[in-house]
Amino acid sequence: MRGPSCLLCVFAPSPMSTMLQGFGLGLRPEHYAAFAERRPAVDWLEVISENYMLPGGAPLQHLDRLRRDYPMAMHGVSLSIGSADDLDLEYLRALKALADRIEPAWISDHLCWTGVDHHNLHDLMPMPYTEAALRHLCERVARVQDHLGRRLLLENVSSYVAFEADEMSEWAFVAELARRADCDLLLDVNNVHVSSVNHGFDARCYIDALPRERVRQIHLAGHEDHGSHLIDTHDHPVCDAVWKLYDYTTRRFGAVPTMIERDDRIPPLAELVAELDVAREVQAGALSAARTGRGVREMTA
Ligand SMILES: [Fe+2]
Repeated sequence: MRGPSCLLCVFAPSPMSTMLQGFGLGLRPEHYAAFAERRPAVDWLEVISENYMLPGGAPLQHLDRLRRDYPMAMHGVSLSIGSADDLDLEYLRALKALADRIEPAWISDHLCWTGVDHHNLHDLMPMPYTEAALRHLCERVARVQDHLGRRLLLENVSSYVAFEADEMSEWAFVAELARRADCDLLLDVNNVHVSSVNHGFDARCYIDALPRERVRQIHLAGHEDHGSHLIDTHDHPVCDAVWKLYDYTTRRFGAVPTMIERDDRIPPLAELVAELDVAREVQAGALSAARTGRGVREMTA
């Protein structure tokens, strides 16, 4: 079965997207000056779209300056692609205007809903994994992609609850959505790990189920361990279990552009650049191991 967007048009990856390779960081205001002054060896930056969608002001000035030195990807938190509310056309117009301004390699948001009846919950709520939800998402993804004139990347979110109505696994749902809606995926390896612990599934099954050709970007991040459950806080370094899952993921998907997210307890930029070096090392080791058939290594970093 082909989804609605397939009937309207098929989006090829933009030429820029093939140029975005290597290892990036999420741009945070705390690091504007450090990036501008030191130009650290970061291959690209991911910017939070909503921080730059108002015309004028200091954030846009920082963005324009850094865009001269770094390729960028746009990452949103407010699209609410899974919501039952109408798509916010004003938001989409502002998103498109920002994309026209900075020419990102791609635009991503989350596979979630963030509100109901136009009240914003300020959280990324998981979808029910049902056929009805798939059809709902396919129609909305098609409209967003038509508006933007490019494929959207959707990111798997961490979750703490599940719906009784679920008809399939999350990984089957995500894979089917990418296929039917003709969208790409941003695979957050930390989110897969967090959800696998919280719901008790094998994270490797999730990775194995995703279509190789759709995974365009990878997120790595830290979380809080509360014993009985994990919370996706982005306030810690990447943990050993996530490095190990990243190793496994790289063996399956190859050298996918990868970045580290940090949103709280933000350290000096040099610390994140050093953590990015660990990602480079893990990816290089995984690619080498994939060629020689070695098993997933135990992490000590
Ligand atoms: Fe993420």
